Amino acid sequence: MSTENNNKSLIYLVGFMGSGKSTVGPILANALGFQFLDIDNIIEEKANKTIPEIFQTEGEAAFREIERSALQELKSSSNTVIALGGGTITNPENLKIAKENGILVYLKISPEEILSRIQHHSEDRPMLTDASGKPLTGQQLEQRIRQLLEMREKYYSQSDIIIHSDNLRLGITVDEIVKKLRAYLNPKD
Ligand code: S3P
Repeated sequence: MSTENNNKSLIYLVGFMGSGKSTVGPILANALGFQFLDIDNIIEEKANKTIPEIFQTEGEAAFREIERSALQELKSSSNTVIALGGGTITNPENLKIAKENGILVYLKISPEEILSRIQHHSEDRPMLTDASGKPLTGQQLEQRIRQLLEMREKYYSQSDIIIHSDNLRLGITVDEIVKKLRAYLNPKD
């Protein structure tokens, strides 16, 4: 464990779309007695638009800028679990902010599991649509997931804690995270 994580009480959940960040987050926060925030919700509040609307009307670059500023604003939160978006820490500046201010927990799942979890829920995920905004399906969806995951793994894998959560039930995933977090949250225990 690196000493730089001592005294941090901010936990960032990272991982690909569909990895369970928004599901695990509130339960983990509850188990720790922390508050839960979801950066996607904060971005939508800031823009007063849904994420697909931001992508459609302003483009990905504008979305990434709102995401970057939301991350900046949240970095001094304490006793908090924040679910980041699947792309948040793939910007090296964002990864640095997260590493300096909190403990990163990566919910790692395989491309096959991602595909099975999101193949019928990709319509509200602009990174998984074609140029005209239509959700990708079948082989194209699988290809896009594999491609994005391959590009992103090098960022995700810099997390402090990695949980292989393919076959883990929700309660077990949370237990595993809490167990591993103990060393960071109570370094003297
Ligand atoms: C994105 C993931 C989404 C959301 C946006 C972009 C990405 O969040 O931030 O659609 O680039 O992977 P979830 O990972 O919560 O779905």
